[in-house]
Amino acid sequence: MEQQTITKLDIKFGKDVYNGLTDFPKHLSSKYFYDHNGDKIFQQIMSMPEYYLTNCEYNILDRNKAPITELFTKNTNRINLLELGAGDGIKTKILLEQLSGTGIDFKYIPIDISQNALDQLETSLSMEYPTINVETKQGTYIETLKTIRKEGNSKNIILFLGSNIGNLLHDQALQFLSELENSMDVDDMILLGCDQKKNPQTILDAYNDPTGITEAFNKNILKRINSELQGNFDLDKFLHWETYNPQTGTAKSYLVSKEAQEVHIKSIDLVVDFEAWETIHTEISQKYDDSEITNLAREAGLKVLKAFTDSKKYFKNYILVKD
Ligand SMILES: C[S@@+](CC[C@H](N)C(=O)[O-])C[C@H]1O[C@@H](n2cnc3c(N)ncnc32)[C@H](O)[C@@H]1O
Repeated sequence: MEQQTITKLDIKFGKDVYNGLTDFPKHLSSKYFYDHNGDKIFQQIMSMPEYYLTNCEYNILDRNKAPITELFTKNTNRINLLELGAGDGIKTKILLEQLSGTGIDFKYIPIDISQNALDQLETSLSMEYPTINVETKQGTYIETLKTIRKEGNSKNIILFLGSNIGNLLHDQALQFLSELENSMDVDDMILLGCDQKKNPQTILDAYNDPTGITEAFNKNILKRINSELQGNFDLDKFLHWETYNPQTGTAKSYLVSKEAQEVHIKSIDLVVDFEAWETIHTEISQKYDDSEITNLAREAGLKVLKAFTDSKKYFKNYILVKD
């Protein structure tokens, strides 16, 4: 009989779901959107016309690959390219190809909570770029980064693309950048992708498509609770709801219970009561401007060395170094 292995992440998932659904107001972490199904839905999101983020960042990296990799390779002949939350790596491949052309000795280390995303990335890289040295690492950002030892005199370049930083609240983003800064040497760099403040409607549309793809992504967390923790959520009894506050730059995703209901989650021995129209907060997608990034970087002991943007100034990629 096949033996099921319970990993640390499975236990953490159960604990986080328990804590989030017994808290008030209820919440669940967006990092649990991503499994085989969630990764597939996120790829659909990236091809939606409303989800401008991916195209903008793709164009920024494509147009600026030469100056970006020039900064990466300055003062070194060996780099480690560490990517936090790599996903399908489509945008990163632009930089990998450019770096390969320079002849520099480099290793690509994608880190992701989703083993499925890493497996797919590894397969596509071995087919498209068989000579690139790749070492995948599964786990959460900082915990996994801490397990990576620097080899010899190599320079670490940390990629944090796709506005993943926007999934962190201000204090979490600050703590996160401070921890990154702590792990860096003087020549190390961060390439940070940040979605920018813009017309609120453009932002709302990106997280609220009419075809229901984002809704399915949001509800995937309930689907995972059902399949992995033996829950009995009825997905049709929840609405996907998005808000954007142009003053704070914060977009928030919720699941809203359409009626009073009781949900059982067997493997964590939990019965959750929902009032009609009660919410579960699932994701934050913070939007920034230059001064907020400059201040955030400074508070974390970092500074902006260079910024690259697209023609509409919808998205920016910042190069951060130790201050
Ligand atoms: C929004 S996608 C972006 C993917 C890619 N960076 C891009 O720009 O297309 C977020 C990725 O980060 C991963 N992820 C989310 N939260 C994470 C966490 N706390 N630790 C590690 N990986 C995480 C997800 O599995 C997913 O692949």
